[in-house]
Amino acid sequence: MNKQHPYHAIIIGAGAAGMMCAAEAAKSGGKVLLLDHSKSPGEKIRISGGGRCNFTNLYCSPENFISENPHFVKSALSRYSQWDFIDLVNRHNIAWHEKTLGQLFCDNSAKEIIALLLAEMKATGAELQLNAKVASVSHSNSLFHVNVDGRELAARNLVVATGGKSIPKMGATGFGYSVASQFGLSLVETRPALVPLTFGDDVKKELSDLPGVSVPARVTANKTGFSEGLLFTHRGLSGPSILQASSYWRETDPIEVQLLPEEDLFARLKDLRGEHGRKSLANGMAMLLPAKLAAYFSDKLKLHGNLADQSDKALREIVDTLTAWQLFPTGTEGYRTAEVTLGGVSTADLNSQSLECKTQPSLYFIGEVVDVTGWLGGFNFQWAWSSGWAAGTAI
Ligand code: FDA
Repeated sequence: MNKQHPYHAIIIGAGAAGMMCAAEAAKSGGKVLLLDHSKSPGEKIRISGGGRCNFTNLYCSPENFISENPHFVKSALSRYSQWDFIDLVNRHNIAWHEKTLGQLFCDNSAKEIIALLLAEMKATGAELQLNAKVASVSHSNSLFHVNVDGRELAARNLVVATGGKSIPKMGATGFGYSVASQFGLSLVETRPALVPLTFGDDVKKELSDLPGVSVPARVTANKTGFSEGLLFTHRGLSGPSILQASSYWRETDPIEVQLLPEEDLFARLKDLRGEHGRKSLANGMAMLLPAKLAAYFSDKLKLHGNLADQSDKALREIVDTLTAWQLFPTGTEGYRTAEVTLGGVSTADLNSQSLECKTQPSLYFIGEVVDVTGWLGGFNFQWAWSSGWAAGTAI
């Protein structure tokens, strides 16, 4: 295929969004080519969800996404919803289960989702070229010219599905942002999200006995809180509640940690005082919290005496400390471990129904490269499916 016989569409990036888009775009009968510089398609799908891919969420709705325009996701999400993707998974006889909070995972392997997408592409005739690095693109005479390892390919439509910057080791390049800038689109500042938070040496020293300890917590950053697990690590804090809050945290902000958010801690401590009054306060707290965390707070609060010695006021003070623990992260682990990239191609420059650029007809941006970031829990893949489908059907 050369300039005289252009492709109907070239899609750059064989990740979740690009594969979905290729399968859908080829249904119109035009020649569709999907390019990726990796040696295998869907590498992030393969490693996602601990190898089982959290492919969508039962409760997916626009509120689960962060974007400068929170309404932007509505059209694509409603026209290709979690139920549409669940139908597709069922049609391919992939066994799945709900783990928690509506998060759907494959029973067996994330590779089944990659196989599903490849089968869909094969059925509609979309072509896949791997080990194909796109170095540059240009537009003239109503065609996009795509430079792939020295070859020039031409297409009437171009879809950029190159993802964000997270996990550069797996092929993330940020290439899509340069294409957007080249065509005059605005970029919303990017930053690592769904990422562990790090702390200064003083806090790390203070928490040095705790790596490996996990505890249910509600973590709030910038007024948005998430109740899930919290994990202490050698670098700082991780676990789902921290990853979620990291998408809202900004440098110099504190995070607020409420330990055991489902429990009425004051009532529990009063019960323990009644039933185990002769236990030391520290040992009593270890009946509520992991032992190392109870020891940490006993030291921090300089707790003395037995449970029976404690007044209601003293118990209340302990509860206040456990439920409003303020910490100041110094940073994040960065793109090296971030699950996603916050920010990206501004939604102000894209049509929300088709993901086509408003100022450059036939140029589309889909998936994570766009300024749409989902919460942890299958939302980012749902955005990839929905936006990929929306562009694919529009082409
Ligand atoms: P994606 O990054 O998947 O694909 C982009 C593709 O473009 C890549 O294949 C890359 O090689 C290619 N590319 C880049 N530059 C190129 C160039 N110049 N030329 C050619 N090709 C180029 N989400 C979720 O909903 N549930 C989950 O369970 C998880 N789990 C998870 C675990 C881990 C460890 C990570 C890092 C991320 C997740 N995510 C997730 C997030 C999810 O993986 C992510 O949001 C989607 O993969 C984004 O899909 P895209 O297709 O937009 O980009």
